[in-house]
Amino acid sequence: MTSSAGDPRLLRALSGEVLPRPPVWLMRQAGRYLPEYRALRATAPDFIAFCLDPEKAAEVTLQPMRRFPLDAAIVFADILLIPKALGQKVWFETGEGPRLGELPPLEGLWSHVEGAADALSAVGETLSRVRAALEPDRALIGFAGAPWTVLTYMLEGRSSDRSRARALAYEQPERIDALIDVLVEATWRYLAMQVSAGAQALVLFESWAEGLPQDLFERLVIHPHARLLSRLRQAGVAAPLVGFPRGGGSLVAEYAKRVDVDAVALDTQASAALGKEIQASGRAIQGALDPQLLRAGGVALERRVDQLLDQWGDGPYVFNLGHGVLPDTPVQHVERVIRQVVDHG
Ligand code: CP3
Repeated sequence: MTSSAGDPRLLRALSGEVLPRPPVWLMRQAGRYLPEYRALRATAPDFIAFCLDPEKAAEVTLQPMRRFPLDAAIVFADILLIPKALGQKVWFETGEGPRLGELPPLEGLWSHVEGAADALSAVGETLSRVRAALEPDRALIGFAGAPWTVLTYMLEGRSSDRSRARALAYEQPERIDALIDVLVEATWRYLAMQVSAGAQALVLFESWAEGLPQDLFERLVIHPHARLLSRLRQAGVAAPLVGFPRGGGSLVAEYAKRVDVDAVALDTQASAALGKEIQASGRAIQGALDPQLLRAGGVALERRVDQLLDQWGDGPYVFNLGHGVLPDTPVQHVERVIRQVVDHG
């Protein structure tokens, strides 16, 4: 991916450019910490229907853009829309989280792969609406869950410690690899559709890479990400892709070497050295402020933001959290951090 001086700051950083100050956006920047989000959410009891309502989803995507000088919007959707598009029932229990129905047999899942992007065309409609409303110097991000993370929900039926999913990776390796294949094929189509609809950069959320030994990390994270990326590039999709192998620990360095993502998103544990090592290979990094510190605020937060800007600011860098904004985060803390980054350099 190449970019030019007139491009949105995010796209310049993702193409490897070092800027006087990094672009900034926050995972879960649209969400429950914002009163205007809670107000609109209260009008839509069904979370999945809310994600698939382009008018409401576009509005929620734009809410943080109106409040803060963010460099990018991320489309309001959820990683669990893919299982739904593949024919598995998905719903959210109020106050508890996601629930998934029985996993359909493989042939059933395969029968939905070609049509997965069409089944989620409402997300494309949201992207088009947001792109039309957003200033040209602010980028629009599309996303999907990575195959392993999405599969953990499909197998376990809810948020869990993923132990059953990991056990199955050993007990039924062929079945698990076949399910990962289904997800690779559905997910690249979904991401390609998002780019056609207006997404200018993509994030692949591997939220549950933690706890995987090296062989499973290679099999369930590195290989599927590499395949997904090559399918996207073969299909002519040039938009930069950010990979987020959250919890990958010491294996993240290996991930960065082996998966040709444009940027690696780092979690809260990432060392300064790990980020620098990835930057030295010409790749951008994103991260890695602790959402708990964002919630706590104060001088410690200010110092940590400066430290991150200093330690990574002389390489290609996208300022972000190491995971999503927590629902009880004071809005002023978010405001202050974004200001601090924007006023830097
Ligand atoms: O602002 C943004 O970042 C865009 C929107 C977004 C949501 N989910 C909206 C959402 C994004 C990028 C996601 C990704 C997502 N969804 C991930 C990967 C990132 C991560 O956090 O690790 C995962 C694992 C999910 C699955 C999911 N969605 C869970 C486990 C839950 C329940 C837990 C919770 O926070 O409530 C959700 C619900 C969800 N997705 C909410 C939002 C704003 C809260 C739902 C509500 O409003 O009641």
